[in-house]
Amino acid sequence: MSQKPLNIAICGVGTVGISTIEILRDQREALLSRSGRSLLVSHVGARREHTDHDYGDARVSRDVMDLARDPDVDVLVELIGGTSVAYDLIKLAIQQGKHVVTANKALIAEHGNELTALAETAGVQIRFEAAVAGGIPIIKTLRESMAANDVSEVAGIINGTGNFILTEMSTKRRAFDDVLSEAQALGYAEADPTFDIDGTDAAHKLAILASLAFGIPLSIDAPMKQGIQDVSPEDLEYAASMGYRVKHLGIARQTNQGIEMRVHPTLIPEQKQIAAVDGVLNAVMVSGDAVGELLLVGPGAGGAATASSVCADLVDIARNPGGSGPALGVPASQLSEQALVPSEQIASEWYVRLTAADQSGVMSDITQVLANRDISIESMLQKPPAPGSGKVPIVLLTHMAPQSVMTDALSEITALGEVEPDFALMRVEAFDR
Ligand code: HSE
Repeated sequence: MSQKPLNIAICGVGTVGISTIEILRDQREALLSRSGRSLLVSHVGARREHTDHDYGDARVSRDVMDLARDPDVDVLVELIGGTSVAYDLIKLAIQQGKHVVTANKALIAEHGNELTALAETAGVQIRFEAAVAGGIPIIKTLRESMAANDVSEVAGIINGTGNFILTEMSTKRRAFDDVLSEAQALGYAEADPTFDIDGTDAAHKLAILASLAFGIPLSIDAPMKQGIQDVSPEDLEYAASMGYRVKHLGIARQTNQGIEMRVHPTLIPEQKQIAAVDGVLNAVMVSGDAVGELLLVGPGAGGAATASSVCADLVDIARNPGGSGPALGVPASQLSEQALVPSEQIASEWYVRLTAADQSGVMSDITQVLANRDISIESMLQKPPAPGSGKVPIVLLTHMAPQSVMTDALSEITALGEVEPDFALMRVEAFDR
């Protein structure tokens, strides 16, 4: 005899909420077989009426707090986003003894330490597979499948909108704003796409991945953060001509000096698998001492892909309401702080684009400043001057140097009379260390 249905409350009926309701309806029989019980949407929280939405037999409330107080609800699915109402809602649901599923990376990054501890005390689950990399099951992979490993690195493309924009700019030479509008229309971007562009969304996701990978508390401010807003079409082109693709990466790496956590546009050699991950796809690499290197690739945003992860969490809860381990891999009380490497000390290879006067001696002045700081040049490219400008773009790839050494060198170089003050600087990652 099958068990009683799992009653689900869905808060938020945007792209992901509606896709979740559709999957739960359209896959009802398969989900019943896989879960051993029906997954029933019993209550929907929608702050306004949507005449085109079909919520089946579910009760509908305008006040989302009603869902957390509904005694018939077993699991509250939070898909409203933000960190104020969503925080109060989840806290109330946990206090009411309900399991929680959320896609809210900002909320987990900011309040996850408290919320996971509260859930443990209350004996309920809080799950957030959909919060990182959309449809890729990276949370479960790190939390469960990698349990036997010491993880040394987790890195990847973890914002679908950003990857879509960079891909369209570099492969079709489309303008940034034009591609962003399309990403919004396709439901990839956040309600306010600033977080997709300035690296905040990827930083939230990286904080979650780092906590799972290294057993550290969540820290929303830990990642060094740089967005894609300053990546110019010229830089994409120069990088390509030197055999690189530019990707916006999140990297959390265990080093002898501590943990590096950083989000930034990055040049990657084009022969690396991750360099070919284009469009809205995300990719996450995980290095573990036992398994070696994994690369998970899949859609990082979009209604159905994200709802796939929400539903996976619901199936896990339905199968095992007693829980399948702590939300962050170890109990909240056992998460332990580790030193972070300050961004200015993080070394990497670098891409530099300068604009200089087209005259003799400039190249040697630039290379002298770099040599004085022990920054070795890997390759150098001088483009022809724009007609009549008398200025030439100079593109350099360097060997390893800490950020502070590189930025000091650039201050000196741009103070040379023949070099313009504006420059482009991006890290290069070959993932071969
Ligand atoms: N706006 C996010 C992205 C949605 O583009 O990756 C998925 O978290």
